[in-house]
Amino acid sequence: MARFFYILLVMAILNEASKKELLKTSEDSGFCVRNRYLTRNRAQIKNSGLRFDMDYEVDSTSIQKIPGGISFLVKSIFEDVPFLKGSIVLLTSGSLHVNFDEIHPLFPRFRSPYDDILNSESLHEVPDDSVKVKPNQVIWTYGKQKYELNFSPITIQGYYDETLTLKVNSHSMMNFDRYRSRDADLKPASQVKDTSSPIKILDSAGVYLEKGGELAYFDDLWSETFIDFVDNKKRGPSSVAMDFAFVDATDVYGLPEHADHISLKDTVDDEPYRIYNIDYTEHAVDTRQSLYGNIPFMLSRSSKKIAGGVFWFNPSETYVDISTSNKEKLTHWISESGVIDFFLIVSETPMNVVETYTMLTGPPQLPPQFALGYHQCRWNYISQEDLLDVSSGFETNNLPMDVIWLDIEYTPERQYFMWDHNTFPDPIGMQNTLDTQNRKLVTIIDPHIKRSDKYSVHCEAEDLDLYVKNEDGEDFVGLCWPGRSSWLDFTKKDAQEYWAEHYSLERFPGSTNNTYIWNDMNEPSVFTGPEGTMPKTSLHGDVEHRDVHNLYGLLMMMSTHRGLLERSGNTERPFVLTRSFFAGVQKYGAIWTGDNTAKWEYLEYSIPMCLSVALGGVSMCGADIGGFFGDPEPELLVRWYQLAAFLPFFRGHSSIESKRREPWLSGEPYLSQIRQSLRLRYAMLPYWYTLFFQYHRNGTPVIRPMFLEFPMDKKTAKIDNQFLLGPSIMVAAVIQAGQEKVEIYLPEGKWYDYHTYSQVDYGEIYYEVQENWVPAFLRGGHIVPRQDRERNSSVLKYLDPFTLIVALDENEEAAGNLYIDDTKTHNYQSGEFLYAEMKFKDQKLKYEVANAMELENQIEKIVIVGMQKTPQHVLIENKHGATAAEFSMKENAVVIKLSEVQVNEHWVLTIN
Ligand code: NOJ
Repeated sequence: MARFFYILLVMAILNEASKKELLKTSEDSGFCVRNRYLTRNRAQIKNSGLRFDMDYEVDSTSIQKIPGGISFLVKSIFEDVPFLKGSIVLLTSGSLHVNFDEIHPLFPRFRSPYDDILNSESLHEVPDDSVKVKPNQVIWTYGKQKYELNFSPITIQGYYDETLTLKVNSHSMMNFDRYRSRDADLKPASQVKDTSSPIKILDSAGVYLEKGGELAYFDDLWSETFIDFVDNKKRGPSSVAMDFAFVDATDVYGLPEHADHISLKDTVDDEPYRIYNIDYTEHAVDTRQSLYGNIPFMLSRSSKKIAGGVFWFNPSETYVDISTSNKEKLTHWISESGVIDFFLIVSETPMNVVETYTMLTGPPQLPPQFALGYHQCRWNYISQEDLLDVSSGFETNNLPMDVIWLDIEYTPERQYFMWDHNTFPDPIGMQNTLDTQNRKLVTIIDPHIKRSDKYSVHCEAEDLDLYVKNEDGEDFVGLCWPGRSSWLDFTKKDAQEYWAEHYSLERFPGSTNNTYIWNDMNEPSVFTGPEGTMPKTSLHGDVEHRDVHNLYGLLMMMSTHRGLLERSGNTERPFVLTRSFFAGVQKYGAIWTGDNTAKWEYLEYSIPMCLSVALGGVSMCGADIGGFFGDPEPELLVRWYQLAAFLPFFRGHSSIESKRREPWLSGEPYLSQIRQSLRLRYAMLPYWYTLFFQYHRNGTPVIRPMFLEFPMDKKTAKIDNQFLLGPSIMVAAVIQAGQEKVEIYLPEGKWYDYHTYSQVDYGEIYYEVQENWVPAFLRGGHIVPRQDRERNSSVLKYLDPFTLIVALDENEEAAGNLYIDDTKTHNYQSGEFLYAEMKFKDQKLKYEVANAMELENQIEKIVIVGMQKTPQHVLIENKHGATAAEFSMKENAVVIKLSEVQVNEHWVLTIN
């Protein structure tokens, strides 16, 4: 009872702290106000003849050649002494890496850890002869990419195939607030240059303006107060900013995660997109306010197909303004601190841009196959009987499920790496039972560490001095689920190691090799902190939290990932889910969209949210099925399952205050409808797994907004209530109660209803809503592998035969792939996997094994959709010789039955 009361109390605090008005807007962030103000009043400021730091030029005498590019010094055009150093290097993987930093900063400026975020394989420099240094310009040429750096003022232009695609600082919004001492800053009023302009600037060391005649330099430079939280900026202003213009772009995308549409909005005179990891509970939709995780990556679409991308590699609080003018999308990126460090990508298509970015910060993890099955979660399964009952419920109701989850209540007083033995007396026995059902367990491990003398994790962390400090240098203490807590400083290597060690079977007693991990609340969520997170003045060694904030969750889950790797001696692939994230998270695991609500609009927004996360390199994304808060009506729950079956991370989850909603509790016909969605997902696992392998190898996203597959079709540019799963399946959502028709756009080509195989005309169509599924279409020209036998866990499908669905295009051709490995280890990295290439052309289906492994599976069925004539004979040729295959005409397809045709051999099927 006491515990329940406590939960309610904490929930109340959390809900209170999460109200929208308790989060900052751009108006509450001085660095954003100032940079916006300076750029918007630039013409006026310039005309007044005043000087300020926002005009930069390369000191041409300082240029030095370095591998792939140049290093140089930068000065303000009003000052002879350079105060910034820069480097620009072109990488063979397809991006231009640009850096600016202070030469002699008063405090070290924070630079993100390259090793944890960037992929060393993507960092090779182009050969020297690709770089030409001229008196006022440097030109890089590599393949079809060309970049030009002009010295005064500094600008960069990126071309692809001679087409100007990206411009840097073309609107002179570059800004670099040097660290300075406070005394130097407080200039007497007499030093203020008087002009007739209403706007005045102190001097070249500052950017402090006088507005409307009164000396009102922005008074939030050294301290800022939000509600009752005072942010003492002991180091003063330190913002960095830059503009990027996407030439000829119709749309820009990316900047996940926001509960917003996929095509980003113009923000002039409105809120910019905010990038600051926060626990925005009961978040709104259609908002540019930040959520739990962020990836500062943006890309464009233009009517010329060529696309540009920008990765702004800065983990401090950032705002991005977007505007459209002169056929370009102008974006203004403003970060509170750190250095200017960014990567530019210009490429042939938006898809190439996404792939280049994804590999630059990847490669993405190939998840263990079970992670692509269904996950059942709830806050909370309250005891081991409860958990095993739910697992058995899935058995008795014939519902597939691979993973069951435990939220915070399995721990004693939210002390992680321990079990509440009153409710979970035998966690190993419980997991052994799960094992017999071929299921895994995920337990939650949050980053807040209860400050209790009886909790060894805390005592050791204290002894080893591993906690983040407050501004006075003492352990930072705040409130979270366990009450008074402290947080490990994951920027420290020894804290990362300490955390990783805890996942060994010895240090986490009751865990097994089948226990996987969920890292939640890692923005970090601090109930008593400003905006429900850690104060920016907290310290990570001599680095302020302000500099590293957006990295916290990533570094935590990276350490967890490492712990799971070490647990298995680096043989098994970990599974880690994180709520907070930053660029590069795709290397370490999955994300979900956090605490959504059981309302139709949250189902709707789950699509653009996951799609934009996928554009940011992270395909393994999902939203809580049914909605975390509240209670979905059965129709909404069913629609959610039907859609989520096509989104990568497939998990049902609900809050402690919601009613239980295991599928059988809805009764019929809902139970059968949910079962059908689960079965549809499980049948498609071979296709999912193949897509994930391609994503892992090449960075090609698993789920794709329409524009990514059809960049030249402008009608696709803003669509985000339908999407593609891989290249071959298009899905549309049903997002209203009682909806009878869904308006769908099918780009030119052949399309077939996934559920009935009937051909569907391209163009704008109305799809009659069915109770049992959401609209899904096979794309002509593609082959989709499936395993149709019904099983209640992915493990049980391993030996099952395969079915190939061949959807023909207008030339009666199609192609596809199949990937298989042992589902869970790293052996695929030494070549232990099957990769097959399938091509249908001239009435022949050729199956070729590009990489073989030992496997017993057969191909039992081929379904050909879209064939014009009725076949007379079907012949299969393989190592056993040529034999006639049995076939039948089903309503909309030719169904061919095979026997003794293996997945790991070549064969040819001929249709006459
Ligand atoms: C917040 C998470 O977003 C939610 O999924 C979880 O159930 C609660 N924390 C309790 O751990």
